[in-house]
Amino acid sequence: MTYLLALDQGTSSSRSIVFDARGQVVASAQQELPQIYPQPGWVEHDPALIWSTQLATAREVLAKAGLAARDIRALGITNQRETTVLWNRKTGQPVHHAIVWQDRRGEPLCAELRAQDKAEFVRERTGLLIDAYFSATKLRWLLDHVPGVRAQAERGELAFGTVDSWLVWQLTGGRVHATDVSNAARTMLFDVHRNRWDPELLALLDIPDSLLPEVRPSAALFGEVQAELLGHAVPIAGIAGDQQAALFGQACFTPGLAKNTYGTGCFMLMHTGGKALHSRNGLITTSAAQTDANPEYALEGGVFVGGAVVQWLRDGLRAIESSGEVQALAQSVPDAGGVMVVPAFTGLGAPYWQPDARGTITGLSRGSTLAHIARASLESIAYQSAALLEAMSRDAVAAGAPPLAELRVDGGAAVNDMLMQFQADLLGIPVLRPAVTETTALGAAYLAGLATGVFAGRDELASLWRVERRFLPTLSRGQAAERMQAWEHAVRQATAA
Ligand code: G3P
Repeated sequence: MTYLLALDQGTSSSRSIVFDARGQVVASAQQELPQIYPQPGWVEHDPALIWSTQLATAREVLAKAGLAARDIRALGITNQRETTVLWNRKTGQPVHHAIVWQDRRGEPLCAELRAQDKAEFVRERTGLLIDAYFSATKLRWLLDHVPGVRAQAERGELAFGTVDSWLVWQLTGGRVHATDVSNAARTMLFDVHRNRWDPELLALLDIPDSLLPEVRPSAALFGEVQAELLGHAVPIAGIAGDQQAALFGQACFTPGLAKNTYGTGCFMLMHTGGKALHSRNGLITTSAAQTDANPEYALEGGVFVGGAVVQWLRDGLRAIESSGEVQALAQSVPDAGGVMVVPAFTGLGAPYWQPDARGTITGLSRGSTLAHIARASLESIAYQSAALLEAMSRDAVAAGAPPLAELRVDGGAAVNDMLMQFQADLLGIPVLRPAVTETTALGAAYLAGLATGVFAGRDELASLWRVERRFLPTLSRGQAAERMQAWEHAVRQATAA
């Protein structure tokens, strides 16, 4: 048998999964990753813990699968994106904690760039909106604020990387400093059309190019794991940022195929082939996972509070004791009874981009109960995703492509049947849940398997994709439009608050 090992380093946990050559899960292991909040708006991780938890789960999953490292044909890495690590090339020691993607400390520099009218230039090169979410201003903050770091960087002593690069460095014992195009595309320093670091952006942000990792396609030989770490030198043959890896794991390889991942937030990506579409509806353009030197793209939109609304029901409202109870509570009423929950706890992302919006509940009546609020909270995940998908469809149609025909789903909340049915009802297209919902890790395994000849090509991967359940719309388009209007009305209340 042939096996592939995927390392999935996420925001809240490090996970490792062994897959067989048919894309089935053989075993998985997971460890929590502690979050560090030094002050409001700042979020950090300890890079040493990112590495130690990841390595521990890799060892654990091999033991659980009853396999040795020599049974693993190749290893793939997928990771939380944008999170920024800076370390010393000689000692391998980080100069600071990793600055996590959610961290907002780069905002003053972003405001400066916007004031200098750089938005169009940045969008044209990188496909991104100027935002502290991306790595560039996090890296610049480290250069400006950690004593001695700027001088060390100028002397070529430091290395920058997103989490994939940090793991590759550790896995190869400091021999390889590399990343893939899908991660590089999230730095706001990368020219997504030429697939290279952009000298003008580096100059604009005053970032020495000696810091940067080499950029390779997502399916490529990156190096070998040091034999002493897992017991054998396994090739590292695939890397992709987690959302692009999920797009790949869902076999969305051709223009118009889209997936939505229902995690803490929700990330929706639509493949656009070799064409970088410019969104007129508040989405960003990003590099998709690439298996050779040819650029491929996706449109992306994110919902900040997706599954996190269930945590709020549990920890904030104390409406449920554990997240698993939400479906039963929501289904104890036939509908939300006119209640709308807009979970704009940290503002609203695409397609609204209202950073000052705040959470709002509308439509309360004397008969409203916690069950109605729970149901409306779950529905808010679908409403926000539907608004994103509508924006994406408008972009696709404006570019001469057909509107979206189906949506593939994954992530923790995709197991919720009621939510998926409501999603299909709002969208008016089938919502498809695959048999393997570990699509992020699967995408990394597929990339590693492609680079090492385990799979013949994308057609074989597409043929492995199996639907477990297909949710078909049951509402008329008129009824769905009425619901969306009611949602948009509630959003206006949230943005007026
Ligand atoms: O862009 C951030 C995203 O990659 C984080 O994903 O799943 O670790 O929350 P996750």
